[in-house]
Amino acid sequence: TSTAATSVSISGDISSQLHGGYHHPLARSWQAERQLTKSMLIYPLFMSDIEDDETLIPSLPGQYRRGINKLVPFLEPLVRKGLKSVMLFGVPMQPGTKDALGTAADDPKGPVMQTIRLLRQRFPQLFISVDVCLCEYTSHGHCGILRDDGSLNNQLSVDRISDVALAYAQAGAHCVAPSDMNDGRIRAIKLKLIEEGIAHKTLLMSYAAKFSGCLYGPFRDAAMSAPSFGDRKCYQLPPGGRGLARRAITRDIGEGADIIMVKPASQYLDIISDAKELGRDLPIAAYHVSGEYAMVHAAAKAGVFDLKTMAFEVTEGILRAGANIVVSYFTPDFLDWLEN
Ligand code: PBG
Ligand code: ZN
Repeated sequence: TSTAATSVSISGDISSQLHGGYHHPLARSWQAERQLTKSMLIYPLFMSDIEDDETLIPSLPGQYRRGINKLVPFLEPLVRKGLKSVMLFGVPMQPGTKDALGTAADDPKGPVMQTIRLLRQRFPQLFISVDVCLCEYTSHGHCGILRDDGSLNNQLSVDRISDVALAYAQAGAHCVAPSDMNDGRIRAIKLKLIEEGIAHKTLLMSYAAKFSGCLYGPFRDAAMSAPSFGDRKCYQLPPGGRGLARRAITRDIGEGADIIMVKPASQYLDIISDAKELGRDLPIAAYHVSGEYAMVHAAAKAGVFDLKTMAFEVTEGILRAGANIVVSYFTPDFLDWLEN
C-alpha cells in the first residue's frame, strides 16, 4: 500500500520535472533556437576623412573614429579572430565638406568609397556592408534633402540616396543598407541596381523598422551627424508605433529588400518578433545601437552587473526574439569570447 502511494505521487510529479532537461551546459545550449556565432555579427566602423585620425569617442566606450591609414592594422587581428562583416559609416571632418545636398556622400575620394576599395583588396573574404544616408554629409544634419519649410523632400532625397547606394555598390560593397527612412527608397535602389546590372551581386538591407528616440546619441557624437535644428520624428518611427513598423516591414519586403533590420534592438524585441513573422522567408537583422551599448557599459561600470554576462544576455535575447544577424559594437569582444 505504501509502495502504491509512492508510485502515484511520482507519476503525478512527472510534468513538473524540467531541471533534467538543462542541467548540463550543452543541454542548456540546446534550449535556444539559435546559438550566437561569429558569422551573425556585423561590426560598425566610423571612417574619418583625416587619413591618420584615430580618435576615441568618449560616449561610445572603446570605439574610435579612424582614418584610412589606421584601418588595416586595426582590422588584421580581428579578421584573424574570425570577423566576418563590417558596416561602414563615413565621417567628413574636413571643414567645408558638408552641403545642403550631401554631395560628399559618394565622393570617389571620400572615406567610404576609399574604404570599400581598400577592404576588397586587403580582406577579400570580409563582407562589406555600407550604411547609406545623407545625415553625415548634409550641412543641416538631416537624413535627406529638405524643402524650404525644413521638412524632407522625399522625391529628391530618394533620387539622391539611390544614386549614393549605387555608387557604393559599384565601388564593391557587398551590401547597401539605407538608414534614411525616406518612403520608397528600397524600390528606387533596387531598380537602379537592376538597371546597372549589379542587382544580382548586391544585397539590399533595409533599416525598415527604425525608431526615433534618444538611443542614437553616442553614434551622432561619433559620426558628427546630429541635426542642426529639429529632430527626426517625422521620418523615423514613433516608439509606440508597432503597426506602423509592421507596415514599413511589409512595404520594404515588397519593394525588394533582401534583409529587414530592426533598430534599436533591446527596447524593440516585439518588433523583431513581428519582423520574423512578416519576413519568414528572409533573414532578420537587429542593430544593438550606440545608446544600448553605452548603457550596458555604464551599468557595468557602476557595478550593476558583469559586462560580459550582460553582453551575452542582451544579444541572446535579440536572437531569441527572431534576429539572426546582429549589428553590434561588442563584436570585437565576442570574437574573444566565442569559440566559433
Ligand atoms: C544614420 C544612422 C544612424 C544610426 C545608424 N545610421 C543615426 C541616426 O539615424 O541618427 C544609429 C546607429 C547607432 O546609434 O549606433 N541615419
Ligand atoms: Zn541619417
